[in-house]
Amino acid sequence: MPNIFVTTPDGEEHTIAAELGLSLMEAIVQKGLPMEAICGGCLSCATCHVHVDPEQFDLFEPKSEDEEDMLDLATNVVNESRLSCQLKIEERHEELRVTIAEE
Ligand code: FES
Repeated sequence: MPNIFVTTPDGEEHTIAAELGLSLMEAIVQKGLPMEAICGGCLSCATCHVHVDPEQFDLFEPKSEDEEDMLDLATNVVNESRLSCQLKIEERHEELRVTIAEE
């Protein structure tokens, strides 16, 4: 299980051991960190928005058009923005760093 470093909007860093095959959103929510993920991963809310460490951004598959469209509706969007329900945890994500975006 890769260890992932998640910074919450209040600036606190948490280390979570994320189960392989889960989405990053599921791993974050399972650990009780503050993420609404209102739609449960259906790509219809953008409340699972994270900023991925710029140096690790390429560790994920590129965004789909639907994810791009949903991010257009989000606030605080940066180049490294992703919707974490669309990011599947794999071995290569050991020591991934992400920040939960402020709404
Ligand atoms: S949980 Fe709604 S878009 Fe990711």
